[in-house]
Amino acid sequence: MLNVFETQQKLAAAFGPSGQENDVANIIAELAKPFADEVYTDRLGNLIACKKGEGQAKVMFSAHMDSLGLIVTHIDENGFLWFSNIGGLALWRIYGSVVRFRNGTRGIVFIHGKADPKEPKLSDLYIDIGAKDETSARKKVQIGDVAVFDQPAFLMGDGLLASPYLDDRIACVILLAAMQELPKTANDLYFVFSSQEELGIRGAKTAAYGIDPDYGIAVDVTTSGDIPKYKPKMECKLHGGAAIKIMDASVICHPHVVQWLEDVADREGILHQREILQQGGTDAGAIHVTRSGVYTGAISIPTRYIHNPVEICALDDVDACIRLVRAACDISL
Ligand code: CO
Ligand code: ZN
Repeated sequence: MLNVFETQQKLAAAFGPSGQENDVANIIAELAKPFADEVYTDRLGNLIACKKGEGQAKVMFSAHMDSLGLIVTHIDENGFLWFSNIGGLALWRIYGSVVRFRNGTRGIVFIHGKADPKEPKLSDLYIDIGAKDETSARKKVQIGDVAVFDQPAFLMGDGLLASPYLDDRIACVILLAAMQELPKTANDLYFVFSSQEELGIRGAKTAAYGIDPDYGIAVDVTTSGDIPKYKPKMECKLHGGAAIKIMDASVICHPHVVQWLEDVADREGILHQREILQQGGTDAGAIHVTRSGVYTGAISIPTRYIHNPVEICALDDVDACIRLVRAACDISL
């Protein structure tokens, strides 16, 4: 059995901002190969692990591999790096954080002295890599290089896991764990580790078109309402089990899929809760509108501080999601 924490550690430490998912894909491919009939990559960088069943229907699961990133746009004469965003960086929460480039160069994100720290703009933030001047900086980093959050994953008390990029590497871990110990199913299964979700669900679009599935199940993190003074009134919470999505900004999950997932969770004794995410989308958003439409749902992991340099989820919820993904392999409406 795959160790959830160790696998998350490994995936969180890999470099994989949107559009450069290769390093993450290579690790996942090695872990997936023993449990798949075929593992391949498409032109957008999606990694697809296919497990043949009896051909009843095609089920596509999708977890995105890519992460947020900081892309360097300008290196100034003092050797400070200025950047743009890859994906939805929460600017007021990232200064002070440590970031890392693919070549190992580390830096600290900070805000220039004249900016309003409460409402920073992208143009207020820079990365300090400790270079003494521009020439020294350019030896380490080029325009277009991307930095990612550089924090270790660690276990907290009471069964919680803290890690950068739980969004959405923890869902990659869930798919990998579900693939293991899977009996032969009636359905043909496609486990997609998708690219470029953070830029507007791009990878899942081509993956779904290529696979042409009958059913789609996205697996991604969702907001957890159990934090102090959280305003949008979200019922999802840590330790509440696998979250079965009803809707987010990208999709209304097919009611029959929602019903089927809730029924199977009840039958198998898998703790579950309903999810409505008011902001943000998932791969389900692209899958359900593929070709003439796909029966689509989503399974979510309640997560605190999404898009922060470190995020928190609960290991028991991860287990519930693994069991629900495994059960969903048999979906038939
Ligand atoms: Co995200
Ligand atoms: Zn995500």
